[in-house]
Amino acid sequence: MLPTADIPIKPKLSFSDLNHSRFFLIITILTLQTCLIITCRFVSVPFFSSSSTITRPSLPNSVEPTSTTTAATTPKPIKAANTTTVVGHSCLVGKIYVYDLPSIFNRDLVNACDDLNPWKSRCSALSNSGFGVPFSKKLSSIIPLSVLPAWYATDQFSGEIIYHRRILAHPCRTTDPSTASVFYIPFYVGLAVGKVLWGEKINNTAAARDNDCIRLLDWITQQPSWKKTGGNRHFMMVGRISWDFRRSRDKDWGSSFLHMPLMRNVTRLLIERDPWDNREFGVPYPTGFHPRSISDVRLWQTYILNTNRTTLFSFAGAARSYIKNDFRGVLLSQCAKEGTPHCKSVDCSKSLCVDKKGNTLKLFLESKFCLQPRGDSYTRRSIFDCMIAGSIPVFFWKRSAYVQYDWFLPGKQEEYSVMVDRYGVRNGTVEIRKVLEALSEQRVRKMREKLVDLLPKLVYALPETGLSSNNSTMEDAFDVAIYGVMTEWWKNSDSKI
Ligand SMILES: *[C@@H]1O[C@H](CO)[C@@H](O)[C@H](O)[C@H]1NC(C)=O
Ligand SMILES: *[C@@H]1O[C@H](CO)[C@@H](O)[C@H](O)[C@H]1NC(C)=O
Ligand SMILES: *[C@@H]1O[C@H](CO)[C@@H](O)[C@H](O)[C@H]1NC(C)=O
Ligand SMILES: *[C@@H]1O[C@H](CO)[C@@H](O)[C@H](O)[C@H]1NC(C)=O
Ligand SMILES: *[C@@H]1O[C@H](CO)[C@@H](O)[C@H](O)[C@H]1NC(C)=O
Ligand SMILES: *[C@@H]1O[C@H](CO)[C@@H](O)[C@H](O)[C@H]1NC(C)=O
Ligand SMILES: *[C@@H]1O[C@H](CO)[C@@H](O)[C@H](O)[C@H]1NC(C)=O
Repeated sequence: MLPTADIPIKPKLSFSDLNHSRFFLIITILTLQTCLIITCRFVSVPFFSSSSTITRPSLPNSVEPTSTTTAATTPKPIKAANTTTVVGHSCLVGKIYVYDLPSIFNRDLVNACDDLNPWKSRCSALSNSGFGVPFSKKLSSIIPLSVLPAWYATDQFSGEIIYHRRILAHPCRTTDPSTASVFYIPFYVGLAVGKVLWGEKINNTAAARDNDCIRLLDWITQQPSWKKTGGNRHFMMVGRISWDFRRSRDKDWGSSFLHMPLMRNVTRLLIERDPWDNREFGVPYPTGFHPRSISDVRLWQTYILNTNRTTLFSFAGAARSYIKNDFRGVLLSQCAKEGTPHCKSVDCSKSLCVDKKGNTLKLFLESKFCLQPRGDSYTRRSIFDCMIAGSIPVFFWKRSAYVQYDWFLPGKQEEYSVMVDRYGVRNGTVEIRKVLEALSEQRVRKMREKLVDLLPKLVYALPETGLSSNNSTMEDAFDVAIYGVMTEWWKNSDSKI
């Protein structure tokens, strides 16, 4: 069902295919940004590197979008920060048009949340504009009370709703497609396909899994902006992993959406990308932390940096008993052998790991490291749960993060994570505990500081206008993703108009 071989790291896009004027424009933008970052250094809290808090000038011709549709079912109004003086830097590159799709492609799916999953209703999981139900006050034993309201039981597949809501409020949004550089398609394809992925439902056929996708393509190909661009400069958020949309034969898993020829020119943001497809970009899985303000982020950063970590490493997951010699089973038994205080685990086959009780969050907060083997696919939501708790991820497959989230995890991998040879673990020549104990205290501290530094880029802020206060703004995962799409467009714009 899923490809199993590990693959080599794909090199990043080179500049060689750019023409000179484009190249210099990008350099100019980057230089400008760097200047802004430097100018702002003194504004930020001394410890945290200021790369995530930058001051930006106001752009004269930015468009204040007239508010049209709202994204989800009766979203609870969330108080936005004052952003009148804040302009996302991507406006330097162009404006975004958001298609007003027929509601069958987004809102109706959310409204029918009782039917989205064959086992249980997803209504509470998708409530609150995709953030889910707020954490209970009982969790104040784990989470400081002052940031507790920023925590939700968020579903890992709710990205389509979260992105749609944010992009409608984007400062670079335009309601006039003729002035747009890029076009956002707010099709909730993960929800549409997710509801027919499994066999329990009567009509779960290959055709059913493609039906909404075909209807969407029928609709969008009638639009003048699509006709003009051939689907280039269009992008969408896909809230599930790429492999759920890459069916080649009828009897196989998933939809064939991403294999449909009309989709070839459309850029996609996904929680797990296909590393061979340069139209796909990995974005962080939605996790439970949705800061209301820059100060929420600062509080949490301080908290995870100073919390007492009494367990060396931990593992939250379930062994797959039907897979012979499953690697997760190997890890669980290594963990049991080491025992506390070296290793602790939460067995997700017994208790629900994505829970409102905060079991996994508690585990990650008290662990120095967390083991992140591949799951049913290469990436796992747990990677992000772990990192935002300030626990250092230990990977066994390069594809679990390194070839996925380049925009969000820049720089050297060893600065924020540990890679362990899985073959050695399997044949007993590598002991995880020894590998981790060999890292100096200072080195571990540096890695944790790096994670703290990366934190804003790994989470989705609560306000629909993002994180800002006065003239300063902090980029979250959404901001980074949109900026990434806009600059990709610039890099490739010759071939796209
Ligand atoms: C936002 O800030 C501007 C300028 O600082 C101010 O004039 C305006 O009243 C503020 N709006 C709100 C809603 O706070
Ligand atoms: C199955 O498909 C038929 C005809 O296409 C439709 O009338 C029926 O409501 C569908 N059933 C379910 C459970 O979706
Ligand atoms: C994709 O874009 C290219 C130009 O870059 C164009 O020739 C092609 O027809 C487009 N594909 C589709 C399906 O429109
Ligand atoms: C961590 O533990 C030390 C000593 O065990 C204690 O002094 C300190 O207050 C603890 N810190 C927190 C944040 O609990
Ligand atoms: C165990 O695996 C490691 C890494 O692949 C390899 O170098 C080593 O030779 C193996 N040892 C045994 C005893 O199989
Ligand atoms: C904004 O700036 C003013 C004046 O510098 C300051 O008093 C206020 O606390 C700031 N507000 C926020 C939310 O940072
Ligand atoms: C925000 O920026 C504007 C101009 O860019 C400036 O006039 C204003 O004083 C700044 N406000 C604060 C609180 O820094």
